[in-house]
Order: sequence, then structure tokens, then C-alpha cells
Amino acid sequence: MTTNGGSSGGGRQARLTITPSVGDYNSLVYWYKTVSAVKATRNGFVIMLARHVPSLAFKRWLYRTIGMKVGNHVSFAWHVTPDLFFPELITVGDNTIVGYNTTILAHEYLLHEWRTGVVQIGANVTIGANCTILPGVVIGDGAVISAMSLVNKDVPAGATVGGVPIRPLSVSKRPDQQDD
Ligand SMILES: CC(C)(COP(=O)(O)OP(=O)(O)OC[C@H]1O[C@@H](n2cnc3c(N)ncnc32)[C@H](O)[C@@H]1OP(=O)(O)O)[C@@H](O)C(=O)NCCC(=O)NCCS
Repeated sequence: MTTNGGSSGGGRQARLTITPSVGDYNSLVYWYKTVSAVKATRNGFVIMLARHVPSLAFKRWLYRTIGMKVGNHVSFAWHVTPDLFFPELITVGDNTIVGYNTTILAHEYLLHEWRTGVVQIGANVTIGANCTILPGVVIGDGAVISAMSLVNKDVPAGATVGGVPIRPLSVSKRPDQQDD
């Protein structure tokens, strides 16, 4: 499970599947027509459990049971929240850290439409605490996302980005790049 950060072109918007709301009100009102209530309830229980258990191995196993593609040695920190309705659209590569309280969305229910998109997070990625990752985003291997960031576009492999929305950060030398 590796990725170079979206070099296939088009970016997040091009990866979204967009469907009009099925009724007169905001699209989330009709969520039960887009995903089964049984699936949403099961996912909700699994995610709530995973948010609270300390064992990283158990969390990886729990997330795999609801369809997420989770690599080896991935660390999901306390209170991470993956997508409730479409966790199967999320991939996280080997040895990646997802920081405290980060939300990974694979759907967006908007007023007149709802959207889904795969989220591909590469290997050896660092995602800081309290980030929000939007559907359709590709994060390349080895990227660093600073705490409190909105990831609304692709992140190239090896890049360091941060902010709301993300911008390149000037970090002179990262701890994992120190000379011997
Ligand atoms: C990205 C990160 C690793 C960079 O840390 P660092 O290497 O010590 O670098 P600095 O803090 O010096 O930041 C480098 C520059 O980016 C800026 N920066 C950092 N985060 C930023 C943000 N979210 N928005 C805007 N600028 C930011 C800093 O202000 C600094 O700018 P300056 O050089 O003009 O002062 C760190 O900011 C971070 O977010 N760590 C995540 C920790 C975390 O949540 N881990 C998960 C726990 S489970």
C-alpha cells in the first residue's frame, strides 16, 4: 500500500461521485436511502469501540472488519473517527500515524447533493492531531500534515503541509531526515 500523492491528475474534485439529493430537503435527511441502517449502526458501534480502546492492533483489526484497507503497523491515536457510512473507501498505508481526534471523511452530504470519494493515505505518513481529511484526497508516502489542518487537496509524497486549508510548510529538516 503505497502512493505518490495523486499524480494520476484531476485532484480531489475529479475523484468524487456526486449524486443529487433524493428529496426536497438537505441530502442528509435521506441518508437511509443511500446506506443501509444496519450497516450504519454496525459501523457506528465499531468506530465508537475503536475510538476508546488503547490497543493499536485491535483498532486495526476493528477497522478492517468494516472494510477499511489498513496497512501493517498503522497507529490510530485516541478518538480518531473514520467515515461512518463508507469506511470501505478509505486506505491507510503501512506505518502511518493518524493523530488524536482526526476525522477521515469519505462522504459529504450537502444541501442539494451528496458526494463520495476514495481517500488514499500512503505509507509512513504523519497526520497530526485534530485534522479533517475530505473525500477524494490522496496523501503521498512520507507526507507530514501538521496538527489542526483541513486536508482539502492532494498532498505530494514527502511534502510537509498544514493549516486550514493546507499549504506547504517550510520545515527545514524533519527528525526522520537528520544526518547520522
Ligand atoms: C508539522 C510539525 C511536525 C512541524 O513541527 P516542527 O518540525 O517542529 O516545525 P515548526 O513547529 O518549527 O513549524 C515549521 C513552520 O511551520 C509553521 N506551522 C506549523 N504548523 C502550522 C499550521 N498548522 N499552520 C500554519 N503554519 C504552521 C510554523 O509556524 C513554522 O513556521 P516558521 O518557521 O515561520 O516559524 C508540527 O507542527 C505538528 O503539527 N506536529 C504534529 C503533532 C501531532 O499531532 N502528532 C500526532 C499525535 S498522536
